[in-house]
Amino acid sequence: MSQAHLAYKSRVNLGSYYTPTEIVDIAWEMIAPCVHSQTTVIDSACGYGDFLRDRGQVTTIGCDIDETAIDVARKNSDKVRFFQTNALCDVSREKFGVPQQSDLIVVGNPPYNDKTSLIRHSIKEVGFDIDEDIASRDLGISFLRSYNKLEADLICVLHPLSYLIKPTNFRLLKEFTANYRLVDGLLISSSKFPESAKHTSFPIVLALYQRGTEGMEYSFIRSFRFRIAGKSDFCLDDFDYITGYIDKYPKKRDQSTYNDTLFFWTMRDINALKRNRTFVESYSANTIVIDKRKLDYYAYVDVFKRNLHRLPFYFGNCDVLIDIDQFRQCKPSFISDTVRHHPFLKKHFRIDPMDKQQTESELDMYFKSLFGEHHV
Ligand SMILES: C[S@@+](CC[C@H](N)C(=O)[O-])C[C@H]1O[C@@H](n2cnc3c(N)ncnc32)[C@H](O)[C@@H]1O
Repeated sequence: MSQAHLAYKSRVNLGSYYTPTEIVDIAWEMIAPCVHSQTTVIDSACGYGDFLRDRGQVTTIGCDIDETAIDVARKNSDKVRFFQTNALCDVSREKFGVPQQSDLIVVGNPPYNDKTSLIRHSIKEVGFDIDEDIASRDLGISFLRSYNKLEADLICVLHPLSYLIKPTNFRLLKEFTANYRLVDGLLISSSKFPESAKHTSFPIVLALYQRGTEGMEYSFIRSFRFRIAGKSDFCLDDFDYITGYIDKYPKKRDQSTYNDTLFFWTMRDINALKRNRTFVESYSANTIVIDKRKLDYYAYVDVFKRNLHRLPFYFGNCDVLIDIDQFRQCKPSFISDTVRHHPFLKKHFRIDPMDKQQTESELDMYFKSLFGEHHV
């Protein structure tokens, strides 16, 4: 199954990256225990309809804005009620003929397309209306909000993990998180989607949400144990982060007021660190002025960047991890490594650079212990 009927630009704008069958299988394993003879199952962004399986539910609904996709989906199944329409406009159960009291499960892989993200920015446009109360800069967030509007009892969908773990995104989901609680989350690499494989892979979660009065706070996500196929769980709270020691976004001050100033590329998440530089010699809109009292921590981030190959995909949206006690113990190794890569920094540190081999073996030990079972 592939979305081959669409040109590149439409694929980007509709977020049409169809889901590999093995992932659809796992989604169905997650919802199967809750599918009963009175359940309605809906995929409101169904593409060719791969998620629309029959497990004895009373009604199955497939919706997509893409006419050709719906035509193909219709040929694949005769038991499904199809709608070729915009799922984000006039959102209600009536729109799909679902009775208010009916047990409703949403399944699928809605599009994610951040209008403000720079990736493929020049061709991005949203060509349809979105209800004001669910509008957002990211289509995926709007889709999650639409499931809340449908008052779905259970939701099993794929979406970027960043929606949950980045506090700014989590806040965008306020109404959603007031009514839903994550009950299962399996992390999948975006590289499993053939079209995304060319880009830096980012973590996607196959998330199962249950509607209820409890909802969830951000702290719930920090302590949630996400599953990873064939590996042990991943939990944000298992680690300490550099953001506890240096400000991620210090105030940008006029560089002309500083003598002997050092600059650092603005820090974002681990995937951004992969693409960006660390220490830079001149000021620009993308740099911050280093507070020299915290220089050791900036050296830490610089060394961390050179060791990113040790980390699996699911850390992509996290901040830089740190074990503060161990770092303090082997700080000379970090500083020696930074100075070796950026000789202009030498005069800012009061240490004699260590032997390269010794540095490398200490850093190797540090990162193996920091990443533990996650070390690649
Ligand atoms: C990631 S694909 C998923 C397709 C299918 N569920 C699958 O996983 O194979 C996203 C789908 O959302 C559809 N889509 C995008 N915007 C939509 C909208 N506003 N309303 C309904 N469908 C939309 C696209 O046409 C595309 O088929």
